[in-house]
Amino acid sequence: MPPAPTFTALLNEQIANEFAAHQQYVACAVYYDSQALPRLAGFFYRQALEERDHAMMMVQFLLDTDAAVTVLGVAAPSTQFDDVVAPIALALDQERRVSEQINTLAATARQEGDYTSEQFMQWFIREQIEEVATMSNLLRVAERSRQDEADIEDFIAREHQDSGESVDPTAPRAAGSG
Ligand SMILES: [Fe+2]
Ligand SMILES: [Fe+2]
Repeated sequence: MPPAPTFTALLNEQIANEFAAHQQYVACAVYYDSQALPRLAGFFYRQALEERDHAMMMVQFLLDTDAAVTVLGVAAPSTQFDDVVAPIALALDQERRVSEQINTLAATARQEGDYTSEQFMQWFIREQIEEVATMSNLLRVAERSRQDEADIEDFIAREHQDSGESVDPTAPRAAGSG
């Protein structure tokens, strides 16, 4: 049985939201690169790729369940930032919004009696807890080290170094990942 039509429509919108998040994080990364803050830039480039993965996991789920996939256009990201803290504050807002969207998707599936789709959303619910926690933690560090950007660069190097992301065996398969 394909996913409930209301769920399919919402998930297609969420695919666009995830691609929009990808674009927004690329914009944040570019800003940090332009400010000669390579660790922060690297962190956001990696976050951007994760958002793209989320979109592609949703695409694969729709393909697997014989539901229609529409690759929608996305709103332009913010590219002007007042200071080094601003992109992180924006990212936290975005992650909180996505958490609500993910919860709405799970609730919709449940209302429709579509337990396959509800189950699919569980991984994203856990992922959002982590992403909101990461961003709110980073925001606290950034606010504390507003005067000394080297501090936040050190923090990223220590806590979020590019160690080749450990693979999560419970993650849904992403379209195009083989
Ligand atoms: Fe995401
Ligand atoms: Fe995210």
